[in-house]
Amino acid sequence: HHHLLGIAGLTPPEITALLDLAEEAVDVSRQVEKKKVALKGRTQINLFFEASTRTQSSFELAGKRLGADVMNMSVKNSSVSKGETLLDTATTLNAMHPDILVVRHNAAGAPQLLARKVGCSVINAGDGAHEHPTQALLDALTIRRHKGTLEGLVVAICGDIMHSRVARSNILLLTAMGAEVRLVAPSTLLPDSVEAMGVKCFRDMRKGLDGADVVMMLRLQLERMNGAFVPSIREYFHFYGLDEEKLGYAREDAIVMHPGPMNRGIEIDSSVADSGRSVIHEQVEMGVAVRMAIIELLAKNSLDIQPAELD
Ligand code: CP
Repeated sequence: HHHLLGIAGLTPPEITALLDLAEEAVDVSRQVEKKKVALKGRTQINLFFEASTRTQSSFELAGKRLGADVMNMSVKNSSVSKGETLLDTATTLNAMHPDILVVRHNAAGAPQLLARKVGCSVINAGDGAHEHPTQALLDALTIRRHKGTLEGLVVAICGDIMHSRVARSNILLLTAMGAEVRLVAPSTLLPDSVEAMGVKCFRDMRKGLDGADVVMMLRLQLERMNGAFVPSIREYFHFYGLDEEKLGYAREDAIVMHPGPMNRGIEIDSSVADSGRSVIHEQVEMGVAVRMAIIELLAKNSLDIQPAELD
């Protein structure tokens, strides 16, 4: 069986092939009649141990638009609340013969663990601060549609790098595809280890944004900080919140991205988030298309991805 556990398992030609297939899925989703039959008779289970608006709903729509039967497991009302483990929960669902298991979990490596224990394809929908591969793919598709290519672009990823699986997957994908990745954050949110990933680090946002083609903002993940966030929110917005003045340092045609959920007034000002330069809603649209492409390729067993190793 084949899985999508991380961007770390993908080659540049595989990424390009996935994005090309997703382009076709964009057209399908824009038609009045949105349904295909590629996955007729297949079963997809969405197993989300963490909250989600975009990822879970787009995986559900993606499976349904391909004709699969999609079941959303309600973890809150499941026997997880009675102490059943992740592995027991997954192997129980596996006994019902799903073809695809989509997993989000707060522990890094949870989807990798499940992939070894179940008899179906596993898709990582976000694991702790490790990876969120479908997010990086939908971001790449959005960028490619605006800029034509990923190679040679300057992409500034700003904010809470430390706790961000979105940042990690995007760094892996964008550097593999030949983009220049800049990270902009205060030292407390920028671990030294990222320097080894082939990126440039900036503490000064204006320098980091200078000449950028893409400005990608990240949510401050206060729930992963145990109440120990320094500096204050007000100071954070002053130095690292994206407003029109700081965006002025990026290229005139730079696009503004945010994976969502947004904290308005903390990492991004509404005047920018709701402006013509924001592609935030397009990212959501591309999310359905990218997930359709991945589900279809995995169901056909034509995406040859080995389980990514945790490093
Ligand atoms: N971008 C993202 O993963 O959003 P959700 O947490 O709402 O799924």
